[in-house]
This record gives sequence, structure tokens and C-alpha cells, in this order.
Amino acid sequence: MPAKSASIHSIELDLFIEAMTRRHGYDFSNYARASLKRRVAGLAQKLGFASVAELLPRLLYDGDLLPEILAGLSVPVTKMFRDPMVFKAMVETLLPMLATYPRLNIWQAGCATGEEVYSLAILLEEAGLLHKAQIYATDINDAALAKAEEGIFPAKMVEEHADNYLHAGGTRTLASHFSLGYGFAKVSGAIKDHISFAHHNLVSDGVFCEVNLVVCRNVLIYFDRHLQDRVLGLFETSLSRGGFLCLGSKENIAFSAAAPHFTPVNAALRLYKKSGGTS
Ligand SMILES: C[S@@+](CC[C@H](N)C(=O)[O-])C[C@H]1O[C@@H](n2cnc3c(N)ncnc32)[C@H](O)[C@@H]1O
Repeated sequence: MPAKSASIHSIELDLFIEAMTRRHGYDFSNYARASLKRRVAGLAQKLGFASVAELLPRLLYDGDLLPEILAGLSVPVTKMFRDPMVFKAMVETLLPMLATYPRLNIWQAGCATGEEVYSLAILLEEAGLLHKAQIYATDINDAALAKAEEGIFPAKMVEEHADNYLHAGGTRTLASHFSLGYGFAKVSGAIKDHISFAHHNLVSDGVFCEVNLVVCRNVLIYFDRHLQDRVLGLFETSLSRGGFLCLGSKENIAFSAAAPHFTPVNAALRLYKKSGGTS
């Protein structure tokens, strides 16, 4: 009966969440449930199990599938200069203000395979600010982080995103920031030197340093309101007074307890400035 089978899927999801939390320390209980349910079911199928329930013993007794499970649940979809108008607004509005600081600490949370953080670093370099910037790029997906840290992409990616780069306010050529050869494009060492990649779980880890800018786009959409609120509080605590927050186009802070601490710089593009003291 449809009602009964729906509830079995729900029980299976609860058991999966319980196993991940208590056995492996990864708590998915506050992820948006409908999309998590789809992803867990798809993952079980991809790994060759007939159901999520059949995956559970393996998850409980053997940690070998954990990296694959984390990678499968994390949706590391990204691209260079995604939503170029957001980058353009950062170049035109945020960077002139950030330029007045002697040092810049930036946290890019949910960096996936690195395309977004490299886009940001390229624009900082062109604005003459990269030399005083330290960017921390974090994610829970270690496979994606390893790829990001490598900084090697297919050469055609550079061609494909050249227009986005220009629309984002790029003033040179995108290719000038890479060394190209054998069908690959390697991010320049000068840019990589200013980025540290690290494992950080927005669900359970705390603030790791004070920053002037937080960029976290297309990550909160996977979380429920409660977790979004926690993470926005974490960003608010991390930001120094006058620091900036950049979220994804479908994300906003209006509902959260952190909202009173921010004023919109460009509400449509989800750019906010921390206006008050730390809560
Ligand atoms: C859709 S990608 C967004 C990539 C990039 N920010 C962009 O907008 O192009 C979402 C990323 O969030 C990461 N993520 C999901 N849950 C996370 C968590 N609890 N802590 C840190 N990162 C997380 C995923 O691993 C994935 O790489």
C-alpha cells in the first residue's frame, strides 16, 4: 500500500541518519528532508543495495563506504564565476571597502571542487588585493577538497567560462591565470598560495578564525531552517564588524536570529554587511 511503503522509506531514512550520526559523527538530521531522502535512496541504489535498509549493516559494521557515502550526499556541483553579476557586485561594491583593510581574511564555506574560490581569488588578484588576503576554503567532501587543492581543471573549462569571467568584471583574460598544457589548465601558484583548503563541517564544527568576508553560496539550500539558522549564526560570529556575507540566489537571512546584525548591501544578489557587534 502506498502509505505504508512511504513510511518505510521514512523509517529507513531515520535509521540511516541515526547510523551516520552515532557511528560516524556526521549528523544529517537537519538537512532538507525530501532532497536528502532522494539522495540517500539514489546512493543505496548506485552502491548496489536493493534498499537503504540493506546498506545499514555495511554502514554500521564497516567504515569502508563512508567516503563514498559522504561524496554521494554532498552534491559538489559548481562552476567558475557562477552568477557573474554577484562577482561583479563584489568587485564594484565590496572590494573597494575591503581594500582599506591592512589584511583580509576570507572564508568560503562549501567550496566543492574549488571553482568558486579560484574565481574569487582571480578577481582579488586583479584588484591588487590578493597579496594581503588569506582565503580559507572549506567543505565536508574530502574528495572534492582534494580536487580543489590540486587546482587542475580541463582546459576547455577555461574557454567555456571566459565570458562569465568578463561579465564578472575580469579585466585580463581568464587563461592568463592558468598554465595550459596537455588539455589541462593549472591555476597559477601565485593564486594558490593564498588559499588554504580544509575539512570543516557546518553542522558540527565551530568558528575557526575572524574573517572580513564569508562566501557561502548554494549550501544552505540543502539545510532545514534550524540548521540554516545555526550556520548563519556561525557566520555572524566569524565576521568582524563591517564584514560582508554573500549567500546563494535562493538563500537569505531574513528569517534567522542573525538577521538584525546585517544590513543588505544588495539584497537581490544576497550581499549583506555586518552592521552591529557580535551576538
Ligand atoms: C552545490 S555545492 C556549492 C558549491 C559552490 N559554493 C557554488 O555555489 O558553486 C554544495 C557544497 O556544500 C557542501 N556541504 C554540504 N554540507 C556541508 C556541511 N555540513 N559542511 C560543509 N560543507 C557542506 C557540499 O559538500 C558541496 O560541496
